[in-house]
Amino acid sequence: MKAITVVPGQAGSARLDQVAEPPVADGDVLVETLAVGVCGTDIEIVSGAYGWAPPGRERLVLGHESLGRVLEAPAGAQVSAGDLVVGIVRRPDPVPCANCAVGEWDFCRNGEYTERGIKQRDGYCSERYRIEADFAVKVDPKLGTLGVLLEPASVVAKAWEQVERIGSRAHWQPQRALVTGAGPIGLLAALIGVQRGLDVHVVDQVTDGLKPKLVSSLGATYHTGSIEGMGDAPDVVIECTGVGSLVFDAMEHVGPSGVVCLTGVSSGGRNIDVDAGLLNRSMVLENESVVGSVNANRRHYQAGAVALAAADPQWLGQLVSRRVPIDNWSDALERRPDDVKVVIELSQ
Ligand code: BGC
Repeated sequence: MKAITVVPGQAGSARLDQVAEPPVADGDVLVETLAVGVCGTDIEIVSGAYGWAPPGRERLVLGHESLGRVLEAPAGAQVSAGDLVVGIVRRPDPVPCANCAVGEWDFCRNGEYTERGIKQRDGYCSERYRIEADFAVKVDPKLGTLGVLLEPASVVAKAWEQVERIGSRAHWQPQRALVTGAGPIGLLAALIGVQRGLDVHVVDQVTDGLKPKLVSSLGATYHTGSIEGMGDAPDVVIECTGVGSLVFDAMEHVGPSGVVCLTGVSSGGRNIDVDAGLLNRSMVLENESVVGSVNANRRHYQAGAVALAAADPQWLGQLVSRRVPIDNWSDALERRPDDVKVVIELSQ
């Protein structure tokens, strides 16, 4: 069957490959892949900067944002033939650490977790894959191929959960949220913020095109420029760019007792000047918090599924701005100016 594979650590090694049918050891649910989303992590893996092949192998099957249709599932499983499913990305570490042992693999403490399409486990960008029933999440059939947005939605649902848990350490009645970055993660973060009844603001660099339109059709406010010039201080910031200067801007400008949640994985290697004393002073005197958030457990996939099911399907449809057939896979890895979410289609 067809699959996109890569030698992690080796730029230019990605190719459309022929690989064997998925091994039964991967799980007793067999899935036909319909679509796979491309994100910054995939581009990093293809550039040779991230990713690990399965033990004893050179190549890794790419793809961690997926949508598929179940072909075979054992009787009594949570999913059955015909269901639309999304595969969970992370698997608990084998020890397992205290968090992995209770299904909170997104908080793995020893780094020995594995991730499909990223770290030591083949991904979902093959015509078929196998998965353990417990790691396949059913999506609302009404979403159709837009179910491919569930993995990024799960990451954002986790970020919002962190914000709410931290916020509710004291009286918590947030009104204004700022999202930095209007990519798929930022737009989904804005969607969830609007669904929670918050006054949502989104800042990005682009001045026109699809992103500002998507923000305003959500009922949120689009900005370019600095956070400082945006009016009242936000109670919540969901940082979705990983750009160092924006991260510190967010920390500086979040409102009293506010929460800044960092979701962008930066590449490092750039220094900026920060008045660390002043920043510390305002964070202490105003009880502010900064939290990092990565990955998602089953609870967050379920929360993401609820958010997607409640969203306007036309709005979600615009988020998937480009669909590329697997035979033209390399086009999907190119970044084009008006891209939001690019999806590789493996089957109709
Ligand atoms: C994925 C996460 C993963 C992270 C780090 C992100 O792109 O969405 O599931 O944990 O990369 O590997």
